[in-house]
Amino acid sequence: MSQHAVTDKVTTQTLRQMKTARQRIVSLTAYDAAFARVLDAAGCDFILVGDSVGMVVQGHATTIPVSVDDIIYHTRMVARGTQRALVMADMPFMSYHSPNECLHNAARLMKEGGAEMVKLEWGALQLDMVARLTECGIPVCAHLGLTPQAIFKMGTYRVQGRQHDTAQKMIADARALEEAGADMLLLECVPMKLAEEITRAATVPVIGIGAGPDVDGQILVLYDILDIAPGKRTRFSKNYMREVGSIHTAIEDYVREVRTGAFPTADYAFQ
Ligand code: KIV
Repeated sequence: MSQHAVTDKVTTQTLRQMKTARQRIVSLTAYDAAFARVLDAAGCDFILVGDSVGMVVQGHATTIPVSVDDIIYHTRMVARGTQRALVMADMPFMSYHSPNECLHNAARLMKEGGAEMVKLEWGALQLDMVARLTECGIPVCAHLGLTPQAIFKMGTYRVQGRQHDTAQKMIADARALEEAGADMLLLECVPMKLAEEITRAATVPVIGIGAGPDVDGQILVLYDILDIAPGKRTRFSKNYMREVGSIHTAIEDYVREVRTGAFPTADYAFQ
């Protein structure tokens, strides 16, 4: 893998080129301009304004209460603090379950928030939404595997795709989402072999969180790597503050380790 970082403004095309060039894509979440500036300067390729804001900033137990207005508010701040990285905004729970609402809310995230790509969690209904957003020129990231907005249906946050049939379904879903126009796939808590297979088959970048090292890039929740998220740290995340005295150094270390392939090792993945 090349370690040369792209210096120009990152676009969806840049991210595709990075996949083709086998250059690892680095990302973190952020929710305000101050941290966005630090992540941008450290070389993150895209910054996600995740609905994890509900848990790590707002103090909720799940992402369910997060509203479109919340995401717009935080995306505005992140966009103001970002020069190079692409800014992606999460579509919150039930903001994209009918075509009209989906288009209306995605447009608000872009026009009012300044998002350059939106992310939605995958479910059977969403294929049509991805196609509609694509027709309107809205870049989309489809989030597969563990989809936290379905927590009350799943019962618990756990690895997805361990059985043969669920793995085959995820492979077919990934292909269908790409055909519908998705510009990026994000795999959360997926066995590393399955993530590798999906990544090899996809022509769009595949970003992992708890999906092992053999994907096109990594994302983690910023407050997890800074060790300030409430509760127990997830198995796939790493505390980058442990050995350093500064947030800047912790974030620079994360960017360097993802870029060079030093993170994640199999210790941070599921078999
Ligand atoms: O909201 C979020 O932070 C996310 C990450 C888990 C990728 O979707």
